[in-house]
Amino acid sequence: MKQGLFISFEGIDGAGKSSHVERLAEMFRSQGRAVTVTREPGGTPLAEQLRTLALNEAMDALTEALLMFAARRDHLLQVIEPALASGDVVLCDRFTDATFAYQGHGRGFDLEVLAALERWVQSVPGLPTGALRQPQLTLWFDLPPEIAAQRLAGARLPDKFESQPLPFFQRVAAGYAARLAADPSRFARIQADQPREMVWDAVHNALRARGWLR
Ligand code: TYD
Repeated sequence: MKQGLFISFEGIDGAGKSSHVERLAEMFRSQGRAVTVTREPGGTPLAEQLRTLALNEAMDALTEALLMFAARRDHLLQVIEPALASGDVVLCDRFTDATFAYQGHGRGFDLEVLAALERWVQSVPGLPTGALRQPQLTLWFDLPPEIAAQRLAGARLPDKFESQPLPFFQRVAAGYAARLAADPSRFARIQADQPREMVWDAVHNALRARGWLR
């Protein structure tokens, strides 16, 4: 049986990651892999309910972080772990880097508390003692916040995060850069400020470079 493979997609709102999630799923399937496509917050009935709350209700940053991690715990146990155990490629639209970027850097919440929650939530049965479930690869769609703001302007009705001002997204982007600096081998930085086909080539190349796609 094939080894499971866990890949997350990250970037500020408007960075354009979501269309590449589907395209990458199709490419893996065409090369014989079973693929689970999912997202955070969400991915289970409970986590989708938590998503609706977190994205639409006003709350303090700790409450928000707890909801994100509660949703993540359910999602890991119900969906991600079983999929990896059966050898699937798991493509997850956002994961814990988003919590560090949005709640940590964007909202200014304590990164140490987030790191503690990360240890609790991502310690899952079956891993060696002390090991955490993390993506094997995180594709970070890096787009200047000014350009993302232009893309979002006039799009659908913004949710709580999408309606944040530019400085918020500048902090979020800095948060992603900090996560990359702390664990560079896990990340592929995708320059998202280019035509969609070139962005896709960069995604495809990142997977080929690791020997995960032809
Ligand atoms: P997003 O992934 O952009 O989905 P859509 O394209 O359907 O809007 O929306 C999720 C939002 O949730 C996004 O603004 C980032 C935010 N978020 C956090 O603040 N913390 C988290 O831990 C996660 C996973 C997402």
